[in-house]
Amino acid sequence: MTTAAEKVQARITGTGSYLPEKILTNADLEKIVDTNDEWIVSRTGMKERRIASDDETNSYMGTEAAKVALKEASLSVDDIDLILFATVTPDYMFPSTACLVQKNLKATNAAAFDMQATCSGYIYALATAKAYIESGLYRNILVIASDKLSSFIDYSDRSTCILFGDGAASCVVSGSGKGLLISNAALGADGSLSDIIKVPAGGSRKPASIETVEAKEHYIKMEGREVYKHAVRRMEAASLESLRQVGITESDISYLIPHQANLRIIEGLAKRFQIGKEKVYVTIHKYGNTSASSCGIALHELMNEKKLDLGKRILLVAFGSGLTWGASVLTVTDK
Ligand SMILES: CC(C)(COP(=O)(O)OP(=O)(O)OC[C@H]1O[C@@H](n2cnc3c(N)ncnc32)[C@H](O)[C@@H]1OP(=O)(O)O)[C@@H](O)C(=O)NCCC(=O)NCCS
Repeated sequence: MTTAAEKVQARITGTGSYLPEKILTNADLEKIVDTNDEWIVSRTGMKERRIASDDETNSYMGTEAAKVALKEASLSVDDIDLILFATVTPDYMFPSTACLVQKNLKATNAAAFDMQATCSGYIYALATAKAYIESGLYRNILVIASDKLSSFIDYSDRSTCILFGDGAASCVVSGSGKGLLISNAALGADGSLSDIIKVPAGGSRKPASIETVEAKEHYIKMEGREVYKHAVRRMEAASLESLRQVGITESDISYLIPHQANLRIIEGLAKRFQIGKEKVYVTIHKYGNTSASSCGIALHELMNEKKLDLGKRILLVAFGSGLTWGASVLTVTDK
């Protein structure tokens, strides 16, 4: 019988990311739509974002990020029992992008499936991996959160095309080893607000037709102000709930990694929590909003830049279409 002392605790043992080489700057956008660098920087904090080429499919980006995470975790692909791929921009409606990664990596021992939680995808996937590991169903899970949103952007719509970029994040979640304990995961959703940011057509409800293409319904449509308002509220509530679940306060957090949707949202959140600027990890100026991968890319960069002592804590928090939101406390562990 397993005693409480032997309880398996899920932890991240390696992280990875992949960013396409091609950079789309604010100056580039000025040539495409009626906008300017000053407006974009002051309203969003974004200076440039990465755009994947035709060959850099979502499955390719996810595979490359996964290779880095596997190497960091010192695991072979044969050790992986499950591949979990969080995305809103799968290569195909089906098969899953997780299966394409399984093929690319030759991870023949792994089950594979996609999950969809929009920009909260990385945290939802961490929560799912944690549950699988702690139930004893799997030993090593490859989590990937990756999006190629440039395929769903109307580059004549200045209210959305400035915001998004492409990129992938990955991590290995296991039941033992040094890394970052997934101390908790506080998830939430509100489907009654599903209309404020969505891609209206292309699903089974409204399949592709000449009319949907002409009406540009395969692109992201967003009520920016509404989304902004809910983002601030939900990320604050999810963060508070996360701290409560772990039994700590904001002063116990070494780094805050928020979803990189808008610098004003990030700064507002940090202010409400009285977390100093130096503790807030920001990548938005370089990559824009990369959807599911945004927290994961930032986490990978943070882990490679800073040496975090044992017991230090990172708070991840994200928000996205659905609506969905989630927050998770990660704690540095050496065993
Ligand atoms: C999109 C966002 C940056 C817009 O900023 P805002 O301050 O709310 O701006 P508004 O949408 O009210 O637009 C203000 C004006 O700027 C204009 N504008 C919009 N986009 C512009 C652009 N790229 N360049 C210049 N002007 C622009 C609008 O047309 C409007 O002009 P008007 O006053 O003449 O009508 C902001 O609402 C936001 O970040 N929302 C959240 C988006 C988000 O997080 N999405 C992802 C969730 S995961």
